[in-house]
Amino acid sequence: MSTEDKNLHHGEPEIDELTKDKYLGGHEYDGIRELDNKLPRWWLYLFYITIIFSAVYLVGYHVLPGENKWSSQEQEYEKEVAAAAALKPADPHGAIDLASLTPLTDAESLAAGEEIYNKICVTCHGKFAEGLVGPNMTDEYWIHGDTTLGVIRVMDLYNVMITGVLEKGMISYKDQLTPEQFQQVIAFIFSLQGTNPPKPKAPEGHKFDGIG
Ligand code: HEC
Repeated sequence: MSTEDKNLHHGEPEIDELTKDKYLGGHEYDGIRELDNKLPRWWLYLFYITIIFSAVYLVGYHVLPGENKWSSQEQEYEKEVAAAAALKPADPHGAIDLASLTPLTDAESLAAGEEIYNKICVTCHGKFAEGLVGPNMTDEYWIHGDTTLGVIRVMDLYNVMITGVLEKGMISYKDQLTPEQFQQVIAFIFSLQGTNPPKPKAPEGHKFDGIG
């Protein structure tokens, strides 16, 4: 007779004397039978924890409405990228209305501009801005500038310094110098117009009638 039959017939499940565990019905092969062993406590508790975890997970990630919902990794990444972008300081040059700039003329600005020029620009534009690797900036000829206007503006030099002319060897000074320093060095360069330095580099670009 199988265990199942026994259980059915006696109403009470059969108990193993040694372990006090119940026999499972319907599992008897060649006289070998299966006990309904008690699960170890640690295993059971882990199991319960996973059930609780799954409920918390389900509510947190799927049930909570809108904003309160917990973020997925992807959303967290996007939030962090947005936060980092907000931390990055805005480009100070971006805030300037270049077209409205006129050359500074006060002695202090010119002195500051000269200092910047001698520190950075002199190696390529020459001691007197007479031109070396870079063009002569004391004559009326400019490579960059709006030829339709006839005058060279602060804005034209400013733009060259912002973008640089990489293929010719001039880098962008956007991150090295502040807008104020840009204007100071440009003021200094403009103050050299017509100074006729020794060994000037031949004119390059277009002739402009003056500073606008
Ligand atoms: C590594 C060499 C180098 C340095 C350093 C350099 N320049 Fe230049 N610069 C050049 C070259 C080369 C050109 C010519 C670009 C072209 O042909 O379009 C140029 C062009 C210019 C122009 C445009 C001139 C024109 O005729 O339109 C301005 C303005 C200028 N530089 C300003 C500066 C200032 C200000 C500095 C310093 C803060 C500086 N440069 C530092 C190489 C340099």
